[in-house]
Amino acid sequence: MDKFIIHGGNKLKGSVTISGSKNAALALIPATLLASGKYTFFNVPELRDISTMSKLLQSMGVEIKKQSTNLSINTFRVNKFEAPYEHVKKMRASIYVLGPLVARYGYAKVSLPGGCAWGPRPVNLHIEGMRKLGASVELDEGYIIAKAKRLKAAKIMFDVSSVGATGNVMMAAVLAKGTTVIENAAMEPEIVALAEFLVKTGAKINGIGTPRLEIQGVDELQPVEETMIPDRIEAGTFLVAAALTGGNITIERCNPQHVDAIVMKLQEAGSKLTISNDSITIQSPASAKPVNVTTAIYPGFPTDMQAQWISLMSVAKGSSTITDTIYYDRFKHVPELVRLGANISINKNSVMVTGVKSLRGAKVMSTDLRASACLVLAGLAAEGATEVLRVYHLDRGYEALEKKLRTLGADIKRVSGSEY
Ligand code: UD1
Repeated sequence: MDKFIIHGGNKLKGSVTISGSKNAALALIPATLLASGKYTFFNVPELRDISTMSKLLQSMGVEIKKQSTNLSINTFRVNKFEAPYEHVKKMRASIYVLGPLVARYGYAKVSLPGGCAWGPRPVNLHIEGMRKLGASVELDEGYIIAKAKRLKAAKIMFDVSSVGATGNVMMAAVLAKGTTVIENAAMEPEIVALAEFLVKTGAKINGIGTPRLEIQGVDELQPVEETMIPDRIEAGTFLVAAALTGGNITIERCNPQHVDAIVMKLQEAGSKLTISNDSITIQSPASAKPVNVTTAIYPGFPTDMQAQWISLMSVAKGSSTITDTIYYDRFKHVPELVRLGANISINKNSVMVTGVKSLRGAKVMSTDLRASACLVLAGLAAEGATEVLRVYHLDRGYEALEKKLRTLGADIKRVSGSEY
């Protein structure tokens, strides 16, 4: 396991290129199971989650060749329709193979994901969605076993807006007989990217980017080429990193529309943001103003940026409240931030942060992907040395984070060693 050693205090300066979206790639790669043939993806981020998804598809007979950020996928020889526990426990997004497998092959055996570091994350909506589309679904020894001759269209109303369930049901419905309607569908950019990719392959989907998707099933789809959209959470993380250090940076090759909620909150916190077609420049004051945030479904403030925002508020000039309405118990990073000198108290799904003059370096432990990012960000602003242990969580979702931060002037290095 590797760790990062950060000497805080450097203001970030310069420019950085945003990588392709992890969560879009994690949806589009399994969607290739829906048609037989050769696909090419560009701008795929080089991340551990992407290699986990690739290995899962390879275990099913899919051929995948990776050349830097290009991925060639050949789905001619799919011969196994199973996502074993070993894969799913590493990455919940493995459940995305469920819809494509049932729709195309009439059978899927997918391990139930179980909980995650910050509490229960159910998949009931995925399962109910498959049942509504006419699949028989049984739960057996920790596995979802879904079978169907051909899926049939249905009207599906999600109680909760879910990115994963919308993606899974949409992938299943594109090959179902008839017209499926999904109400309260997720509108996140990654779901829009998935829908647009499916349309390119021949699917018929109306209402993309709205909470009502209408999907007219077709008999067959064709493989295509696609470029991944930029990663909005990586973009947001760099913007907040700049704000935390009183820096001045430009993030390039991003989609500013996708980070609108984050940009608005940073402006409220006192940063000046200049936006072009595909880049954003941020100039930040030495200390941020306190700004409350409540996470919400897109286009609201993303839960995947909640931890990083708490880091920024830890050194703001006053008190703020951050509430997570998507995940009620996603605060594993709070005790670690407190080790760095932050003043934070948790009350149910909210935290109250009272900004301190400065954080002080210490050893802290990563517990999950975004929690790790918030600790690195806090380390950039802390006095002295911060060691962030178990950075393998970060490697799941941030491409070359420490290298990108170094090009912006941060003092951060990776140390390899099994004891971290
Ligand atoms: C995706 C993202 C993740 C992000 C999350 C919320 C991927 C690979 N991951 O996760 O980074 O944090 O969206 O934006 O894209 N829910 C149910 N039943 C279900 C499914 C979800 O109750 O069957 C609930 C969840 O507990 C949560 C809410 O719905 O409260 C939203 O979760 P969801 O959008 O499904 O998250 P994921 O797709 O797992």
